[in-house]
Amino acid sequence: MALVRGFLGLAAACRDFCVLVVFVLVVHPHRADGFSRGFFAPSKGVVIPPVAGICAASVIVHGYKCQEHEVTTQDGYILSLQRIPEGRVVRNDAGNKRQPVLIQHGVLVDGMTWFLNPPEQNLPMILADNGFDVWIANTRGTRFSRRHTALDSSIPDFWDWSWDELVSFDIPAIFDFVYGQTGQKIDYVGHSLGTLIALASFSEGKLVNQMKSAALLSPIAYLSHMNTALGVVAARAFVNGEITTILGLAEFNPKGEPVGNFLKSLCAYPGVDCYDLLSALTGKNCCLNASTIDLFLMNEPQSTSTKNMIHLAQTARDGILAKYNYGRPDYNVMHYGIATPPIYNLSNIPHDLPLFVSYGGQDALSDVGDVMLLLDSFKFHDVDKLSVQFIKDYAHADFIMGVNAKDIVYNQVVAFFKRQYSA
Ligand SMILES: *[C@@H]1O[C@H](CO)[C@@H](O)[C@H](O)[C@H]1NC(C)=O
Ligand SMILES: *[C@@H]1O[C@H](CO)[C@@H](O)[C@H](O)[C@H]1NC(C)=O
Repeated sequence: MALVRGFLGLAAACRDFCVLVVFVLVVHPHRADGFSRGFFAPSKGVVIPPVAGICAASVIVHGYKCQEHEVTTQDGYILSLQRIPEGRVVRNDAGNKRQPVLIQHGVLVDGMTWFLNPPEQNLPMILADNGFDVWIANTRGTRFSRRHTALDSSIPDFWDWSWDELVSFDIPAIFDFVYGQTGQKIDYVGHSLGTLIALASFSEGKLVNQMKSAALLSPIAYLSHMNTALGVVAARAFVNGEITTILGLAEFNPKGEPVGNFLKSLCAYPGVDCYDLLSALTGKNCCLNASTIDLFLMNEPQSTSTKNMIHLAQTARDGILAKYNYGRPDYNVMHYGIATPPIYNLSNIPHDLPLFVSYGGQDALSDVGDVMLLLDSFKFHDVDKLSVQFIKDYAHADFIMGVNAKDIVYNQVVAFFKRQYSA
């Protein structure tokens, strides 16, 4: 359902803004004592993050049209989705339908994360200005996707999901919606977890009929080479159950006190350097603007489920891509009919699916060794359908907000998509 549609330009923005404020339910209580320099450090000069939707806060202000949409998943989650239907300068290409592109963020952030750099530098607006019909996803549990047809986000049942459910429910619901609205096959851009859930979906034959091509930035599928001390210690705590004792199987809110305390306890481990938490988690980003980092810390990180974090930690521990492990053979049998969780076999991804993979040499989460494993699973992919880009200096966050990401990555993404439809 479109909450806000048919913007007639900036003159209408005030009216639409009002509609937005009424309709976009922001369940998340904004904590004035959130954080500023670090993910969990108590902040001094607090800036309250925008409570209006992403369109009003980050898109319309730059002169772009933007629509807020809602998509309900089969398991009842109501997700917010933004659409930037065209660029600032509307091209005279009547008759040519715009190519839809869906942009999917990673774990612990939301769709807002794509808009932290100015219009000339951020991916959605660059795509819009290149003639694309741009859609921004917001995963369940993040600020603007915290509603459900029956469950309240304050109860643990709301958080009973891992990335398996993003594969089974979120991504298919969003693809169905965008495909239904545009009647066209979709180009996809995923970052981080946004690549994992797409790859897992493709391996099950999902989405491939509604998709044109996919760009995978900072791809994660295998996580066994993840090498940051903090990441390793955290992953261990997740899989051995420490974390569930502290948090319960419920919301994992990085801005909340329990998670903050948990992180602080991890930071006390020898070898774990939390002075700069963003670098500790994502690697040594080469190209972030200090004021963009400030914006990032005002808007992110976002909640996910503890179960999702455990599942990611299992992925790191086990070195295979499998469904959530309930930890006991009988529980797995109950859920899957077999004692070990079923695997997602990436060799099943259709060999003619156009893929663009871009990865960085400094990325702590998408380690080069793990990307090599991923690329190995594409060894039978049609040679002309797979493009790979390696960026020596890039780490995980450079792909979403690097000052030079336009020149280095996004222009390649645009060129890759355009090659597919001239082909
Ligand atoms: C960093 O961000 C500030 C504020 O948006 C801007 O004035 C400055 O030009 C940016 N620097 C670069 C290198 O993009
Ligand atoms: C994945 O699928 C490929 C081909 O379909 C098969 O050869 C391979 O054994 C499978 N891998 C696993 C771990 O099941």
